[in-house]
Amino acid sequence: MSIIKLIGFESFEDGRGSLVSLEANNNIPFEIKRVYYMCGMETDRPRGFHAHKKLKQVLVCLSGKCKVILDNGHERESVWLDSPDTGLVVEDMIWREMHDFSENCVLMVLADEYYSESDYIRDYKDFTNQVVS
Ligand code: TYD
Repeated sequence: MSIIKLIGFESFEDGRGSLVSLEANNNIPFEIKRVYYMCGMETDRPRGFHAHKKLKQVLVCLSGKCKVILDNGHERESVWLDSPDTGLVVEDMIWREMHDFSENCVLMVLADEYYSESDYIRDYKDFTNQVVS
């Protein structure tokens, strides 16, 4: 089974532009407790490089594009996020890296828990040691 799980959002398009609606427990598969977004990234300065012990997230690239690498401790896969109509589901205990940001990239993240530094695993070796084999 692929580590990359994408959700296609319905986009309401008309002459005025497009509108996408995100709803908890509907097209987002959890109760949303937190939303954050990143912008102003530089192409050669990747972000992420961590996993969460217990956190579900959906990443949506609202503008521009970036490459996301997901790693479950056994396999590593990558996907380009380049559409506001697509969400990437990232479950518990998945190492993530975001690379190759375009100049105008805005990356939004929905999460099912509040920010907690103690939920982070920031060392790759610690991560692979904690992955249930
Ligand atoms: P960090 O997790 O290091 O970002 P990235 O995963 O992109 O490398 O977060 C950067 C800073 O923002 C760090 O000081 C923690 C803070 N932060 C919050 O205060 N709340 C949040 O919800 C998040 C995700 C980060």
